[in-house]
Amino acid sequence: MKFAILSRNAKLYSTCRLVEAARDRGHSARVLDPLRCYMRIASDGFDMHYKGRSISGYDAVLPRIGASITRYGTAVLHQFELMGSYTPNRADAIARARDKLRAHQLLAAQGIGMPATVFGDNPDDTIDLLSMLGPPPHVVKLNESSQGAGVILTEKPSASRSVVETLRGLYANFLVQEFIAEAEGADLRCFVVGDEVVAGMRRQAPKGDFRSNLHRGGTAEPVEPSEDECRVAIRAAKVLGLGVAGVDLIRAHRGPLVLEVNASPGLEGIEAATGVDIAGKIVELLVNGAK
Ligand SMILES: Nc1ncnc2c1ncn2[C@@H]1O[C@H](COP(=O)(O)OP(=O)(O)OP(=O)(O)O)[C@@H](O)[C@H]1O
Ligand SMILES: [Mg+2]
Repeated sequence: MKFAILSRNAKLYSTCRLVEAARDRGHSARVLDPLRCYMRIASDGFDMHYKGRSISGYDAVLPRIGASITRYGTAVLHQFELMGSYTPNRADAIARARDKLRAHQLLAAQGIGMPATVFGDNPDDTIDLLSMLGPPPHVVKLNESSQGAGVILTEKPSASRSVVETLRGLYANFLVQEFIAEAEGADLRCFVVGDEVVAGMRRQAPKGDFRSNLHRGGTAEPVEPSEDECRVAIRAAKVLGLGVAGVDLIRAHRGPLVLEVNASPGLEGIEAATGVDIAGKIVELLVNGAK
């Protein structure tokens, strides 16, 4: 089969592994930089060009679209969909997952556990907004936070209020969550491919921090997620419409709670921690989907 990996950088670990896994299985795989794909849209047909040449005929496309290019990247992906390529993560699903408020609403509406979350717009509403959440500690998160930067723990009502006021002053979008203390600085990344959790790793925050991000000095170890955790992770991916997803859970007394569903989860950390050939599993999903 003929596959395309949409990725800005052919040298990235995840991109290399996917190309290698496809070629090992006898398929052709080409890395296309989504920002170099351009197209003609007209009612008499579509045309997509890449660096001066017309491209078409891809059986399946795997998007690896970073948050900074979500808009253009999903437009390109959508074009591939209209031209008949299969993709496990459709453009609409990626856009849904990237919008944190939208994703939280959709997951909660399907009864998927998550930390109670509030968000609002007007500064006049801050006190009532925080009272809807209950007493601190609270976790304030910038909507565009990633790798743990922009995630703040506030332990007193006055701290929650002043952080919220400060962010408002900066015109930042954010949400506020109940703090799940019993997670003890750990979260669980479940890597979902199709209808399966193919690998799991537990990330533990360094001493003195509650954020388990590896970029913040967290450590990773392989774990076998429980049946319940697998069920929640698979459902969360399904609700958002993602065939490939990294679902981050924290372990609360009331069960696994979803923190985030990542539509372009990295392969490096989790393949290294678990030894699972995740790239191979993704390629098998592409083959089955494109049949
Ligand atoms: N409500 C919470 N209660 C306890 N710990 C939390 C909570 N929310 C986040 N954490 C911890 O902080 C870490 C970072 O939070 P989160 O994953 O939401 O933000 P991020 O990693 O910056 O962004 P993203 O994962 O969306 O790219 C989590 O991995 C988790 O360890
Ligand atoms: Mg995270």
